[in-house]
Amino acid sequence: MKKLFAVLLAAMMLLAMVACGNDTPDPTPTPDPTPDTKTLYMATEGTFPPYEYYDGDKLVGIDVDVANAIAEKLGMKLEVVDIAFDSIVSGVQAGKYDMGMAGMTVNEERLEKVNFSDSYATGIQVVIVKEGGKVKSLDDMAADGVVIGTQSGTTGFLFASEDFGDEKVKGFAKTTDAVEALKNGQVDCVMLDNEPAKALVAANPDAGLSILDTAYANEDYAIAINKQNTDLLNQINAALAELKADGTLQGIIDKYIK
Ligand code: ARG
Repeated sequence: MKKLFAVLLAAMMLLAMVACGNDTPDPTPTPDPTPDTKTLYMATEGTFPPYEYYDGDKLVGIDVDVANAIAEKLGMKLEVVDIAFDSIVSGVQAGKYDMGMAGMTVNEERLEKVNFSDSYATGIQVVIVKEGGKVKSLDDMAADGVVIGTQSGTTGFLFASEDFGDEKVKGFAKTTDAVEALKNGQVDCVMLDNEPAKALVAANPDAGLSILDTAYANEDYAIAINKQNTDLLNQINAALAELKADGTLQGIIDKYIK
């Protein structure tokens, strides 16, 4: 009896081995139940409402929301780093950050250093002036002694320098510093993107600030990505296309721009 059992057992084991040896494909490996979610590092500069600004000690805004929606599609966790605007492109180029998203305009100079995603928003350069000040029109900006405030490293800084001369342009680390300088008479106007200009004028209701009617230049905003990282570029463009198609992007913009 014992022997018969042993034989049966051996036969069963043999059968099992044969069964395993057939060429049924391996089932797809089950993913690691707790994979380390990869982090998507975004560099920005946080004085650019409604694209990026502080609500208490939290950075919020269109760019932050769009970046979170992209990170979600990529299965990544977003980490936002607030740095000087003129360090964003070089930081992305050096591989310190995965992407730069800061209401950043696509231009030739930057395209030499980084790639840009498809555009997700547009901006217009405008000029903020102060009641009773020297600048009442774009033409006045060319007058002797006029000082134009801008944020360092921005297209506003580039335009103002090219069109009115370096010596007339003063660069500030923060857009809010440029606006403070206009309020206290250190500069005569500030060249800045339209939505941030509106937000900053609205944030200073008693300062006699207003925006000149004449728009200066139209621009496309996009995400800066390291030139080596074409995989990320493609993934971000695919995510952006989906966010545009399903209305998420417009919904985020409408949440911040009334
Ligand atoms: N659109 C302008 C540029 O690209 C200004 C962007 C400033 N952005 C910021 N987050 N401060 O140069």
